[in-house]
Amino acid sequence: MEQTLAIIDQRSGGRRVELGLILGSGLGHLAEAAEGVAIPYSSLPGFPATGVSGHVPRLVIGDLEGVSVAIFGGRAHYYEEGRANIMRRPLEVLKALGADRVILTNAAGSLRGDIPPGGLMLIEDHINLKGRSPLIGEESEARFVNMVDAYDPGLRRDLKRAANAVGVALPEGVYCWFSGPNFETPAEIRAAKILGSDAVGMSTVPEVILARFLGLKVGAVSVITNMGAGLDASEVISHEQTKAVAPQGGARLEKVLREYLRGLSGSRGGGGE
Ligand code: HPA
Repeated sequence: MEQTLAIIDQRSGGRRVELGLILGSGLGHLAEAAEGVAIPYSSLPGFPATGVSGHVPRLVIGDLEGVSVAIFGGRAHYYEEGRANIMRRPLEVLKALGADRVILTNAAGSLRGDIPPGGLMLIEDHINLKGRSPLIGEESEARFVNMVDAYDPGLRRDLKRAANAVGVALPEGVYCWFSGPNFETPAEIRAAKILGSDAVGMSTVPEVILARFLGLKVGAVSVITNMGAGLDASEVISHEQTKAVAPQGGARLEKVLREYLRGLSGSRGGGGE
């Protein structure tokens, strides 16, 4: 960890950050939006090697809309190595860089007709259907993480306000974690719906648990790339489709995030809310 931080400090000039952003499938280009230094994960000890196309495995430390941010251009998933804690080091680094919050993004399948492909969903809560915790094996008492309001109500309110200001629909819903890498069966999608899910995906949940463990506030937005398996007879779900559709929602997401960040820097400059 010390070595990782030393490399980052050396590249960034010891810069502190306020907020972290983890980008999901097909959204990696957002990392280019920030002005700053880009450090490949491969040169950061403990960072995962992510081999999933649509991800850009670089850490960008820089400025976005006047806020000092750390943007993680790609994530590693549970399905890559079967380790739910695979994103622990990046989140620990984020905390060590001074951030108090992280915004997670992902590509997801929708279970709701009113949240179509190309749209966004603000995650209000999740179902860990996989049942795996990234804190298995952790020995400190901090492992007993309270998951009520895991998705920070204040952060959710601010993201909704930002979405509203830029005219982007941002309905709230429950995200259900399937391990992947295979997509779900139609029966699994029907089951997830009965359980109270609004979207399904293969990521994010382990990172939310880790972030709460580390005391980071969490906000998370899904970019909807398809309807869940079996919900739209005309659709053939694939990773190609995920990568092709994600940038549509990604453009909306970028607008929302920029507006949210402008609000953050504005409230700071103006003495805060
Ligand atoms: N299921 C799981 N993960 C996904 C999906 C899906 O339908 N779409 C994009 N990521």
